[in-house]
Amino acid sequence: MQRLIPTGEAARPVAFAEVPQPVPEPGEALIKVEAFAPNRGETFLLERPRPDLLPGKDIAGLVVQAAADGSGPGIGARVVGHPAQGGWAEYAAVPTHSLAVLPDSIDSARAAALPLAGITALRLLRTAGSLAGRRVLLTGASGGVGHYVTELAVGAGADLTAVTATPVRGERLAELGANVVHEVAAAQGPFDVVLESTGGPDLPLALSKMRPGGLLVWFGQASRIPVTLDFFQLLGGPERVTIQHFHYAQAPYHADLSALVSLVEQRRLHPEIGRITDWAQTADTLVDLRERRIRGKAVLLTGGAP
Ligand SMILES: NC(=O)c1ccc[n+]([C@@H]2O[C@H](COP(=O)([O-])OP(=O)(O)OC[C@H]3O[C@@H](n4cnc5c(N)ncnc54)[C@H](OP(=O)(O)O)[C@@H]3O)[C@@H](O)[C@H]2O)c1
Repeated sequence: MQRLIPTGEAARPVAFAEVPQPVPEPGEALIKVEAFAPNRGETFLLERPRPDLLPGKDIAGLVVQAAADGSGPGIGARVVGHPAQGGWAEYAAVPTHSLAVLPDSIDSARAAALPLAGITALRLLRTAGSLAGRRVLLTGASGGVGHYVTELAVGAGADLTAVTATPVRGERLAELGANVVHEVAAAQGPFDVVLESTGGPDLPLALSKMRPGGLLVWFGQASRIPVTLDFFQLLGGPERVTIQHFHYAQAPYHADLSALVSLVEQRRLHPEIGRITDWAQTADTLVDLRERRIRGKAVLLTGGAP
């Protein structure tokens, strides 16, 4: 079968290789992959790939072999999955605790856009606590995670300010109910909660716009610039703030995947797909994702462009 493997080259981060089909463990189902979606964090891993790296965490497709231990969906079920790796291939072995069954109303492209970004959004919002009537600042908002966080937080009653590079990148977020600004400096505080993923100078600036005792959840560093904080600046500003480091990754994912599928089915969550194309275009798409040229999610199809 065909699989995309890392090259270590910035201009073409992956290339096709002919490899044997994976052999599932007893708790894994074999999925024929119809669509997959890359994430910003995966583009970082591809810069200096470990020798054993098999990229691909977000997939949707068809169960062609059910798990030998009897768990999970049966043969023929349409599923969305979040394997630890190996999803950018014609077939992937996925633990059944990281699969959810899809209804007919959700196609594979929209489903593949869900796992990592959607689970991150759900878990971020749980970390933030109740958002009803609370003021929230979200940085790096135009990406995959940002669109899901915005729709779910506004739906939960938050007054959300989203930071995007340009008005065009904020258009859909505004439709979803966000106040959109184009730099953290322009955001009108004070905020109860900050969801920060760009790092560099943005984090201390966002921190200075919080109310005393507020919560800043730090979940990324898209700018690649480390953060510098000055203890004494906070004495003149919002004291007693909490900064919480966040990482979404903790299996099992079945329950959160099922929740995302259900929200999409009920039209309470809408995957925002900025690019959908054939998986022959994966290398170019990864470069464009890394260089901020894609709004929302990018989805690659193994069966040809739509
Ligand atoms: N901690 C976790 O568990 C976890 C899980 C998933 C994702 N993440 C992180 O969360 C962030 C969002 O993930 P994603 O998958 O939604 O990524 P994404 O789709 O690539 O979106 C990232 C957004 O960050 C903004 N951005 C990129 N480079 C920037 C820069 N140099 N300065 C300021 N803003 C920049 C871009 O928006 P504009 O170009 O419009 O500004 C982009 O839309 C990433 O940093 C990712 O690594 C963390």
